[in-house]
Amino acid sequence: MNTHHVCPAALAGALDNRLRRWLQDPGRILRPYLREGMTALDLGCGPGFFTVDMARMVGPAGRVIACDLQQGMLDRLRTKISGTTMEGRVTLHRCEEGRIGWNGSADFILAFYVIHEIPDQQALYAELLSLLHPDGQLLVVEPPLHVSARAFSQSMAAAEAAGLKIGSGPEILWHKTALLTRP
Ligand SMILES: C[S@@+](CC[C@H](N)C(=O)[O-])C[C@H]1O[C@@H](n2cnc3c(N)ncnc32)[C@H](O)[C@@H]1O
Repeated sequence: MNTHHVCPAALAGALDNRLRRWLQDPGRILRPYLREGMTALDLGCGPGFFTVDMARMVGPAGRVIACDLQQGMLDRLRTKISGTTMEGRVTLHRCEEGRIGWNGSADFILAFYVIHEIPDQQALYAELLSLLHPDGQLLVVEPPLHVSARAFSQSMAAAEAAGLKIGSGPEILWHKTALLTRP
């Protein structure tokens, strides 16, 4: 497995900028998974690069739970959506170390660039499974250099051991992706 270094809030700007938006258009990546009225969870939301588009896609009847370990990341997201229509669609949730700690049922869960930062991945996947709606989908995306093919397959083995079914995720250049569901 990789080291479990948590991306500091001071680097939030590197995660939320126009170049990334051009390379990883959140609308294009997430469109197949999100519909109006859904409840979606953005695990390790960081400064909310995906959260805002998720909130747009679930519409006024939907909800996005934006979870992060670091208050600094949640504060950046709060500032970003403050006074916008997205503010009413996003719930900010501070995770505990080793536990998401949100109780609910999500139609879609996004785990983008976060799984490798988590020490006990099998426990995390078990918690995610418990939060997933029976027809829900969990999209895992891991970065190309930081996470080796071996580390990613170990992570998928942990997901399977937790009871999730592994399917193919979308093509994102050089990235490792998987779409996980209930068996
Ligand atoms: C590399 S950033 C990615 C942020 C965002 N998903 C994106 O793609 O822009 C990883 C984020 O995961 C958060 N994180 C790490 N471990 C976590 C945990 N156990 N629970 C919730 N968030 C966590 C970090 O605080 C950081 O904001």
